[in-house]
Amino acid sequence: MGEVRVGLVGYSFMGRAHSNAYRQVPFYFPEIESKPVLQALCGRNEAAVQAAAAAMGWEDVETDFEALIARDDIDLIDIATPNNVHVAMAIKAAQAGKHVFCEKPLAMNLAEARQALAAVEAAGVVHMVCHNYRRAPAVSLAKQMIADGALGTIYHWRSQYLQDWMMDPEMPAVWRAQKAVAGSGALGDLLAHSIDLALWLVGDIERVCCDMETFVKERPALGGVDATLGATAGGGEKVKVDVDDGVVALARFANGALGTMEATRFAPGHKNYNWFEVNGSKGSIIFNLERMNELEYYSGDDEGGLQGFRTIQATEEVHPFLGLPDGGGRYWPPGHIIGYEHTFINTVADLLVGIEKGESPAPNFADAVKTQAVLEACEGSADAGGWAEVETA
Ligand SMILES: NC(=O)c1ccc[n+]([C@@H]2O[C@H](COP(=O)([O-])OP(=O)(O)OC[C@H]3O[C@@H](n4cnc5c(N)ncnc54)[C@H](O)[C@@H]3O)[C@@H](O)[C@H]2O)c1
Repeated sequence: MGEVRVGLVGYSFMGRAHSNAYRQVPFYFPEIESKPVLQALCGRNEAAVQAAAAAMGWEDVETDFEALIARDDIDLIDIATPNNVHVAMAIKAAQAGKHVFCEKPLAMNLAEARQALAAVEAAGVVHMVCHNYRRAPAVSLAKQMIADGALGTIYHWRSQYLQDWMMDPEMPAVWRAQKAVAGSGALGDLLAHSIDLALWLVGDIERVCCDMETFVKERPALGGVDATLGATAGGGEKVKVDVDDGVVALARFANGALGTMEATRFAPGHKNYNWFEVNGSKGSIIFNLERMNELEYYSGDDEGGLQGFRTIQATEEVHPFLGLPDGGGRYWPPGHIIGYEHTFINTVADLLVGIEKGESPAPNFADAVKTQAVLEACEGSADAGGWAEVETA
């Protein structure tokens, strides 16, 4: 296949990140035969979507999702909208024979996630969910090291995903503060990423014990602009916040490892602190997205009083995503670091290869069902108190 013609819905934060990835991927991944075409950008407001399309390099616009998926010049539908419309859009796109790339969390709940998986499998299309942090080179290196046995038997997963952008009680009730649109708060927004990484790096989670809290219980209404975003009349009125601001969870993995996970939007000073540590019988690794080119590694094999964590700069050609197949660096020379946007470029690169091969790259909708099952168990545990079993796919 020479071209993958993309129809993207949603053009704000993630819409920009994905648009940039489609534009950059042929430059950095010249070996991939399929080249994305930024065919059509979809949004509900014609003037706004026109402006966004012009700014980001899209060839055409649509103001109606049904019209987008009805087009026969679109191969891939990319869903970068709030969570409440992911599954309906994914199912329609699959039924129209389009490959589907969807932002996380895939669904509002486990039942919905399973419906989405059934639809893409029935349609035989390629599917993927955008847990882009897997494709930070240092995180992929962690995966490689664990698979190669560098850490031995895994004993612990420990993660924190900390932000502070919602702390001001006068901040309006944006869609991320509304259960009807977001499904949950820090749980689905942030902990979903940590769960995806935990499942990938350590393995299946069998049960969780979770609690969560909404620290700011009401917020100014958004202002009556946008029904889908859940906006209300505004005018100084306050609306109830019905999602969690912070969540803590214990986890039991099927392989016997123990996990602790925390996610919050109420950790002053932490902007996008996506951190995890894995301890095994032979060593430990630590990753922090705010220093995303580095992986800390402790090897129990070090001897002679030289034991200690070392910092690996994951910027060498031998590291995942950083070398070209015929030699040479994909991005920049060692130590010339890459950033947040490259995680999306790497993700889209694997998506294009998946479409070429007719294989759904991980994390695909089946992986996302597992993540959603853990999210749902967390909610069940927090509601009922005590441990909750994670449903199997
Ligand atoms: N992978 C990541 O690290 C990451 C980071 C941020 C957000 N996300 C996810 O990406 C998705 C979008 O988040 P965002 O931060 O870009 O949100 P955003 O509010 O910045 O943008 C949402 C976009 O969707 C559009 N939209 C809203 N409802 C719509 C509808 N019914 N039909 C068509 N368009 C609609 C809005 O106009 C806007 O363009 C969410 O699912 C979120 O969880 C993922």
